[in-house]
Parts: sequence; structure tokens; C-alpha cells
Amino acid sequence: MVEPRTFRDEPVSFVRRSGRMSDAQERAFEELGPHYLLDVPRDIAWTSVHPEARLDLADEYGRDADLYVEIGSGQGHAIVAAASARPDDDFLAVEVFRAGLARTMLDADREGARNIRVVEANAPEVLSSYLPESAAAEVWIFFPDPWHKKKHTKRRLVRQGFGDTAARALRDGGLLRLATDWEDYALQMREVLDADPLFERAFDGEWADRFDGRVMTAFERKGIAKGRDIRDLVYRRRSRP
Ligand SMILES: C[S@@+](CC[C@H](N)C(=O)[O-])C[C@H]1O[C@@H](n2cnc3c(N)ncnc32)[C@H](O)[C@@H]1O
Repeated sequence: MVEPRTFRDEPVSFVRRSGRMSDAQERAFEELGPHYLLDVPRDIAWTSVHPEARLDLADEYGRDADLYVEIGSGQGHAIVAAASARPDDDFLAVEVFRAGLARTMLDADREGARNIRVVEANAPEVLSSYLPESAAAEVWIFFPDPWHKKKHTKRRLVRQGFGDTAARALRDGGLLRLATDWEDYALQMREVLDADPLFERAFDGEWADRFDGRVMTAFERKGIAKGRDIRDLVYRRRSRP
């Protein structure tokens, strides 16, 4: 699948996988999409968000509750577990991987979690315009694609400038939680966010403790099996002046 344009002419942090969806996954989009899937006005690329599109949270969730956003939610294990354990909060899964979104909707439906929505879109566009400013209590990014080859590191999601994008969507005092098994990326995340005046560290020592709302996924298991250290980070959005 060819994406005709990149967001603000910068490289995106994903490669679209064009694999065919199973019948069950297609059905998830048809049957569960009307409740769970946000209908995003697009710009040019399929995963884009029209720059003037704004999400009306009260209208979409039918209430006013704290919003937790997961970027690159994969199969949705963490967000579905959180949404079913915390019915008084609202959750938004941001992914470009259609099969993962189908899995997320199927699992949310099975768990009876109605307080979750999914959006098939490039995350920086969701954070920088589609979500209302200060909408999120927390933004989670667990095991983002590491883009470990030197020539690809410019594609990493958490790179210079990302802090400002995330800070726009976070409310004052809101938390940005990250985890990775890729040491070099962990160091880059910490460097980028330490340098961002809109954030302060919300952990002592070198790294944060493992976030206990983070469910063990295949990505973490693979990292551990390869003997890598899993690094957690958590930053607090400073108050707006
Ligand atoms: C390595 S997987 C990790 C998935 C999940 N967080 C976990 O721990 O199992 C990274 C995910 O981020 C998604 N992703 C990468 N860049 C993205 C972007 N710009 N917007 C939305 N999703 C993105 C990919 O499609 C992929 O599913």
C-alpha cells in the first residue's frame, strides 16, 4: 500500500502492511466498527487526518471522563485490559495496523469494554490536531518500532519535536509513559524528553519502574528472551502558563 504523502513532509514511523485480513477481522470492522472505530476525515494519505478535523470527545464517548491514549497499540492487549478494569475512564487506541485494530475491537467486545475507541491513523496527526488540546490524562507508547539501523533512526516516533506534539494533547500534569527494549532508543527517548521544557521527569534514578498497567506483550517477551533490558520512562507535562 503506497502512502502518497508524509505528514509535514517528515518520514512516518511505520510501514503499511498490506496483508489480507481474515474474514473474522473484516467482520470486526463491519460489525464492531460502528461502535469502536472513529470515522476520521482524511487528508491525502489513508492513515492521515484532515488538519481541520477535530474529535468531539463528549459526543463520541457520550460522557465526560478522563482519557487515556495509547499510540501504536498493536493487538490492543494493554489498552483493552485497562479499559475493562477501569470502566469510569475512556480509552483511545491509535494504530495503523488494521489487523491489530480488528483484534482490539474483538477483544474489547468480548470483555464488554464499551469505553474504548480505536483510530486508524498516523499518531502524530492525532496528537497534533485531531484530539482537542489538553484532552488526554495520559499518553502511552509501549515498544514503538525501534528502527535500529542507523540510516532509519530518523523514522523513530519519539524524536526531536515529538515532545511538543504529545504535550499539546496532554492536560497539565498529564503523564507520558514509554517503554522499549531497545537501549539506544531508550536513551534517545530520555534525551529528547529531558530536553523538552514542556516535560519534567516523573521518576527518580536512571529509569522509571515498570508501569504496572503495562501488560506483557510478545514484543516485551521477545526483548527479554534476547537478553535485553526493558526500559520504562514517565514524564509529567508541565502546567501551561
Ligand atoms: C512494535 S509494535 C508494539 C505494539 C504494542 N505496543 C505492544 O507492545 O505489543 C509498534 C506498533 O506501532 C504502530 N505504529 C508505528 N508508528 C505508528 C504511527 N505513526 N501511528 C500509529 N501507529 C504506529 C505499528 O503499526 C505497530 O503495531
